[in-house]
Amino acid sequence: MKTLLKKVVPLPLRVELKKLGLAWLDWRDPVEGKRVPSRKNTFIGGGDFVGVGNDFFKTLKRHGLRPDYHVLDIGCGQGRMARPMVGFLTGDYLGMDINADGIAWCQAEYSDVPNFEFQPMDVYNSRYNKKGTQAAEAYVFPVQNERFDTAFLTSVFTHMLAKEVETYLCEISRSLKKGGQVLATWYLLDETSRASQKPHLDFAYEFDPVSRTTVKSTPEAAIAFDIGFVKSLYEKAGLKISTVEFGHWSRPDSSYMLQDLIVAQKI
Ligand SMILES: C[S@@+](CC[C@H](N)C(=O)[O-])C[C@H]1O[C@@H](n2cnc3c(N)ncnc32)[C@H](O)[C@@H]1O
Repeated sequence: MKTLLKKVVPLPLRVELKKLGLAWLDWRDPVEGKRVPSRKNTFIGGGDFVGVGNDFFKTLKRHGLRPDYHVLDIGCGQGRMARPMVGFLTGDYLGMDINADGIAWCQAEYSDVPNFEFQPMDVYNSRYNKKGTQAAEAYVFPVQNERFDTAFLTSVFTHMLAKEVETYLCEISRSLKKGGQVLATWYLLDETSRASQKPHLDFAYEFDPVSRTTVKSTPEAAIAFDIGFVKSLYEKAGLKISTVEFGHWSRPDSSYMLQDLIVAQKI
């Protein structure tokens, strides 16, 4: 049905219809809770905004997050992962993203939380910021060396190209204290995931020798990387991988998370 609709209804009309549908849902069943965007005004994808944030907060704590930490959230979107940390974190939080509207929304929503800051990044991405003037592969994070205890990226490397990811991992390493930790989600290609791809997340197109995408014309829609390549990037950046947890996109019973998670420490 979805495929048929895609063929019959032109994209601009589909976009408008989706907006109307979401506005109707917002009217019929308004989203509840502070710092939760309405369905119509979210750009980070559907799903349970509050539940996903709470689950990832548990993951952060399971991996040692402490209240006094300095935390960096790269590609923070609309603060889905920041939200549960309010009231817990006595250190500080910096969220950065290339979507200026999302950052402006977070700045307004968190204006009463003094230890939370949100900063826009002027970086190009074909899906999330076509107006960006700087290339991600040459971008220097506007942060001091060794400022953070923990950095994380949820569903961000899944929208970036190989060279960009390489740069970001080096920048993360520079920004972390020695022993500091980075948690990042990925779509990792190994024997199992290559064999178990689902129609709704089919990395059908080879983008380059180390990555595949679901949409040929907009590769940043969703990108999966060869696991060996990803591990080599961590090593190059001086980050030692301690955990790889596979998500249910490729291992249906393995995790609450859709995507794979890599946890690593700065050496
Ligand atoms: C699917 S959303 C996830 C947002 C947030 N991390 C979360 O889990 O709620 C992907 C986010 O990555 C951001 N993004 C894409 N490319 C980026 C880049 N090169 N640097 C920083 N953020 C980027 C997008 O603007 C978007 O907010």
